[in-house]
Amino acid sequence: MSPLHVTRTLPEDATDAALRADVLNGLTDSPKWLPPKWFYDARGSELFDEITELPEYYPTRAEREILVARSGEIAAASGARTLIELGSGSSEKTRYLIDALPLAAYVPVDVSESALTQAGQALVAERPDLDVHALIADFTAPLALPATPGPRLVAFLGGTIGNLLPAERTGFLTSVRSLLAPGDGLLLGTDLVKDERVLVRAYDDAAGVTAAFNKNVLAVVDRELGADFDPDAFDHVALWDAEREWIEMRLRSRTAQTVKVPALNLAVDFAAGEDLRTEVSAKFRKEGVTAELAAVGLDLTHWWTDAEGRFALSLSVAR
Ligand code: AVJ
Repeated sequence: MSPLHVTRTLPEDATDAALRADVLNGLTDSPKWLPPKWFYDARGSELFDEITELPEYYPTRAEREILVARSGEIAAASGARTLIELGSGSSEKTRYLIDALPLAAYVPVDVSESALTQAGQALVAERPDLDVHALIADFTAPLALPATPGPRLVAFLGGTIGNLLPAERTGFLTSVRSLLAPGDGLLLGTDLVKDERVLVRAYDDAAGVTAAFNKNVLAVVDRELGADFDPDAFDHVALWDAEREWIEMRLRSRTAQTVKVPALNLAVDFAAGEDLRTEVSAKFRKEGVTAELAAVGLDLTHWWTDAEGRFALSLSVAR
């Protein structure tokens, strides 16, 4: 069996320092905010997996439908010998791609070491011909990739690009482009603009799983920074910003309250009804995606959607 290579480019204490900086910045800003990446401790990742099975949350099923239908076309169009997957997590949907592409190497990149090694070991056992180089890294920071054969295909699935604000998106796409040689590709998953009620339901499900996922970020800050957030003192809010075409998740303070964050020597006052923004999930249109890619030197060559037109996978090629 070929070995699983694991490279850590993230210092062990980087997470702690980044969390402190984000919590300090976000909770002292007006309006208050926290970045969505802190949802995903073990409990949050479990809750997200539950979300993907909810009847209201269509993106995961829609993207899987596209991958099942189009992996052959993606393989033919890209001819990729190295697949780099950003935010690979469990690599569950990626298996369709891995099985279709003429791959010599697979490079999953994620901040979660446990997800990477679990998925990596299973893959290495099944595909002894494949070089698997797992990178423990924050994909929003510059990446050092192993020397593997081209052409390269970078995959960023799930619609996670929607978590970035427009300026962050440009920076991110620029750094992705810098990983690619002319002719290499980017496979990008984007959730699409649609009926507001469908969108809001996807982020405010009847069973309350998304509400629990949203409040989990408070449990993370409590555990890691000794804060005394009471999740029951906040309401889950999901709303559609029609102008910016994004969903926002917020936590709305039920009462006037003060939250202490001892690790930061911080006391944060919330007014009754005051919101803490925890996530932006932007929704896209084909014209916008084409323009954002073109602006960084990526030419859109393919646009595939599920049968209901809810979600898109695009393939673009580096100029
Ligand atoms: C994993 C970022 C794609 O924005 O839809 C699911 C996260 N948040 N329900 C999304 C999420 C609330 C999800 N992404």
